Amino acid sequence: MTRDWVSWHDDYDRPRSGLRRRLAVVQRAIRTALDSGAERVVSLCAGQGRDLLPVLAAHPRRGRVRARLVELDERNARLAEERAPAGVEVVCADAALTDAYAGAVPADLVLACGLFGNLSDADVRRTISALPQLCAPGATVVWTRHTHEPDLVPSICGWFEESGFDRAALETAEFGVGVHRYAGPPTPLRPGERMFTFFPQGPRFQESPR
Ligand SMILES: C[S@@+](CC[C@H](N)C(=O)[O-])C[C@H]1O[C@@H](n2cnc3c(N)ncnc32)[C@H](O)[C@@H]1O
Repeated sequence: MTRDWVSWHDDYDRPRSGLRRRLAVVQRAIRTALDSGAERVVSLCAGQGRDLLPVLAAHPRRGRVRARLVELDERNARLAEERAPAGVEVVCADAALTDAYAGAVPADLVLACGLFGNLSDADVRRTISALPQLCAPGATVVWTRHTHEPDLVPSICGWFEESGFDRAALETAEFGVGVHRYAGPPTPLRPGERMFTFFPQGPRFQESPR
């Protein structure tokens, strides 16, 4: 059975939920990247855009930002679209395919939130190794992953670092939220590449705090 990815977002509306606490950490990282001048943004498996869109709406540089949110679920894409200001494009497509980012990269800010908990370990690694294609030199990647055992967060950090990223921040107290900065050379987008296969039924542990 396929998970309902619309109702997954309901926890964002519960003031005491762990997902909401995770959101605050993610949004802080997004705000910091925008403050530092990020203008081109892409979000993989963007859901309803609950992380980026509210931060953008309140940010003084919002008029300069161009974002592409890639989301497969039509209902979530529509909800994101309804909240999206000018400059934000919501694309209902498979975020696993590099083609989904043509014309929107290299980005200064790449969001991979609520993604790594829904992939095999091998696909997490493959996705990280493909991310330089989406990144301008100096780009920030904000990512999340639960920390249930076996905790993949240390491996994820290692895979980022072997793919040319430096660690800028890591939160692991209740959930994993990482910020990595791309320190490698420009890497052209390779069309037609699949980065991952998303578990359709959702993860064994939800991509949410412990
Ligand atoms: C755990 S939610 C995370 C949403 C958002 N990134 C967040 O953190 O609030 C995962 C989202 O990925 C979407 N999704 C699943 N497979 C996808 C795919 N192949 N391409 C694009 N989106 C996908 C689901 O519909 C769902 O909205």
